[in-house]
Amino acid sequence: MNLMCVVLPLGTLFSLVASAGAAPEAQPPMPKYYVDSPLCQMPYVDPFSRDVMAIYTKDKEKACHNDSELVTAEYDPRLEQYRVHTRGDLASKMAKENVTLECGYQKIYRDENATEPDNTYKMSKMMPLPDDLLLPKDVEYIATRCLLNSKNHKSKITQKDALTFVQDHLSYADLVRAFRLLHDEEEPKPHVIILGIDSTSRINLRRTMPQVLRFLRESSRLVRDGGLQQGGRQHAAQPAGPSHGRQPTWRASRGKSFKVKGYIDSLNYIWQRFKEAGYTTAYAEDCESLSTFNYEKPGFIRKPVDHYLRPFVRAIEKTLRLERRHGIVFCVGRHMSSGYVWDFAVQFVERFLQRSPMFGLFWSNSFTHNSFIGAAAMDHLLREYLQLFQKLGLFKRSIVLLVSDHGYRFGDIRTRTSSGYLEERLPMLWLYAPPWFHQKYPHYVANLRKNRNRLSSNYDLHMTLQHLLQLNTASPEAFDPRLKAKKCPSCQSLFFELPENRSCSDAGITEKWCTCHPATTVTNRTHYEAVARAVVQQMNEHLVARKLTNFCENFKLKEVKVMDRKQILGEKTADAAEEFYILNFSTVPKKPQFEATIQWNPQNNTLTMNVDELSRKNSYKDTAKCTDDPIVKKYCICKKGAKKHK
Ligand SMILES: *[C@@H]1O[C@H](CO)[C@@H](O)[C@H](O)[C@H]1NC(C)=O
Ligand SMILES: *[C@@H]1O[C@H](CO)[C@@H](O)[C@H](O)[C@H]1NC(C)=O
Ligand SMILES: *[C@@H]1O[C@H](CO)[C@@H](O)[C@H](O)[C@H]1NC(C)=O
Ligand SMILES: *[C@@H]1O[C@H](CO)[C@@H](O)[C@H](O)[C@H]1NC(C)=O
Ligand SMILES: *[C@@H]1O[C@H](CO)[C@@H](O)[C@H](O)[C@H]1NC(C)=O
Ligand SMILES: *[C@@H]1O[C@H](CO)[C@@H](O)[C@H](O)[C@H]1NC(C)=O
Ligand SMILES: *[C@@H]1O[C@H](CO)[C@@H](O)[C@H](O)[C@H]1NC(C)=O
Repeated sequence: MNLMCVVLPLGTLFSLVASAGAAPEAQPPMPKYYVDSPLCQMPYVDPFSRDVMAIYTKDKEKACHNDSELVTAEYDPRLEQYRVHTRGDLASKMAKENVTLECGYQKIYRDENATEPDNTYKMSKMMPLPDDLLLPKDVEYIATRCLLNSKNHKSKITQKDALTFVQDHLSYADLVRAFRLLHDEEEPKPHVIILGIDSTSRINLRRTMPQVLRFLRESSRLVRDGGLQQGGRQHAAQPAGPSHGRQPTWRASRGKSFKVKGYIDSLNYIWQRFKEAGYTTAYAEDCESLSTFNYEKPGFIRKPVDHYLRPFVRAIEKTLRLERRHGIVFCVGRHMSSGYVWDFAVQFVERFLQRSPMFGLFWSNSFTHNSFIGAAAMDHLLREYLQLFQKLGLFKRSIVLLVSDHGYRFGDIRTRTSSGYLEERLPMLWLYAPPWFHQKYPHYVANLRKNRNRLSSNYDLHMTLQHLLQLNTASPEAFDPRLKAKKCPSCQSLFFELPENRSCSDAGITEKWCTCHPATTVTNRTHYEAVARAVVQQMNEHLVARKLTNFCENFKLKEVKVMDRKQILGEKTADAAEEFYILNFSTVPKKPQFEATIQWNPQNNTLTMNVDELSRKNSYKDTAKCTDDPIVKKYCICKKGAKKHK
């Protein structure tokens, strides 16, 4: 996930495709809108539209290994410790002769003394791993190596692997408190588990993950009254985002301040609020270089949560065999990147379900970040994990969210399909509430259901998470003003009814991300070319202003693909002078494809736009090698031989 994205429209799904695998013709009539109100008409998108299906090939399931697990682990609830086993029997089968297994392990841990602890890791020296090891309680992660030796020769076969453990460091006093919180008569604390899939729109979930979708729907039947609330979108910064006080302006600060060491630590995160409320916290994310707080950033200096997978992910990506799919690390050693994250989530749940309220954020980038078809190959596996959570009893006690940050942002689906614009802007949000929650807070559940087809944003989701910490707060007004989102004071918990007639700005959504307004294509060529020239001119002025002219080529307009005018619903005649356009265009050299949302004043032909907010629709991989700045990368076409821009 990426801190850089802004608030997207939530809004919601109400029509459920019966079977996502079926032919489009077999679908029930499609709804026209996700949200249909005087101020917002958010169009429904058919996941199986002809243009998308023309470029959609299903990604096949493929395992990361085909050998047997020689090191396994299990939790011994009696001793409250993990046991690690080696499997000599399987080794002999693998080697097809009698062999003895010689295994060793290294402890992996965070180097708290490093200048950037997130960007390093430590490993102990190799220790022998016996057949049955009672793992010391201070070991959270291990790397293992096994050799298969026969009588006569040392086998060439070795197996490297890595395992995680969730250790319980709660003191007796902590446990007593945690138990009270879980079983509080007045206001029992629900567990809160957030599963995130990066770059996956609600549309793409339906397209690529029919089995997961079926599970989500069936579980909602299990809990009668549709416990699974599907909503709209959420934003990466949200669950992890600052909760109050020093709330940064995400867009303004995304460039420089995040690079300052310690800045990320200085923000307030929602998990801290859960921690203060007595929760045990966890956060895991795959793909060490892409992850939210580490992509081109120094990361956390202090460990941000109780159970933090980062040092492990860093260590395994540096020491195990990597296999890329769609250009991204998909297998690390013998397992899928996302598998480590989900296994960690399972261990976390197993360990604390009965002991302490849990807050966990488990985010995967590896199978969706670089490809909109990648999720299809993970459909089956993710469903199995969801079933495992169910078996463990997670759904009895917990609020569970399945979310994404935004939809797919570049490549074919953006450049070649008419729904690509919406695809990028409509993330998913499923919110599951357990039966006791339905019984105790029927009005919240009813509101949640009403809100399904009302416009909302990640600020609302953020307020919803805050609400879980104070469920007896009975109205938005009763909320502590310090807890309100600074950038959207009118945003509120989704457990309260949202106004039906809500505008994007009421929900904290800027025009660029707003999908509420119907658009019509401008056919007057003189007009759209004049606007496009002004846009390109402003882009060039921007290069000068940001002192980028030594690095980036000047832009020349190549072609206007299409310019749409947004018809702002419910606008007062006074502002009608301002026109909003979405401009699709390309420039030379290198023909980058851009999309700009701009404001145009026809009285004096002046343009208002934020160049840093341009969307780049094709990949910038080959044109932006001279800069690491995630914003500049989007538009800078590096000059030949340009030095690295700092
Ligand atoms: C098993 O996996 C190894 C490496 O991961 C690969 O080289 C080999 O071809 C695979 N064998 C089969 C039968 O799939
Ligand atoms: C392996 O050892 C067992 C007993 O020690 C013996 O019965 C068996 O024949 C051996 N197998 C091979 C392939 O040497
Ligand atoms: C950090 O430094 C302290 C003092 O030198 C030492 O005791 C501790 O073991 C170090 N921690 C790690 C993780 O290396
Ligand atoms: C922008 O152009 C693409 C084609 O490149 C098109 O699919 C998309 O719908 C356009 N966006 C708008 C808002 O017109
Ligand atoms: C919706 O809100 C707009 C702007 O506040 C207002 O002009 C309009 O009358 C409202 N419509 C309804 C049906 O309430
Ligand atoms: C086309 O746009 C130009 C520039 O905005 C304007 O002067 C002209 O009247 C428009 N033509 C039509 C037919 O609307
Ligand atoms: C253009 O007109 C708008 C209001 O109609 C005004 O706010 C803006 O400053 C004007 N821009 C220029 C460059 O004159």
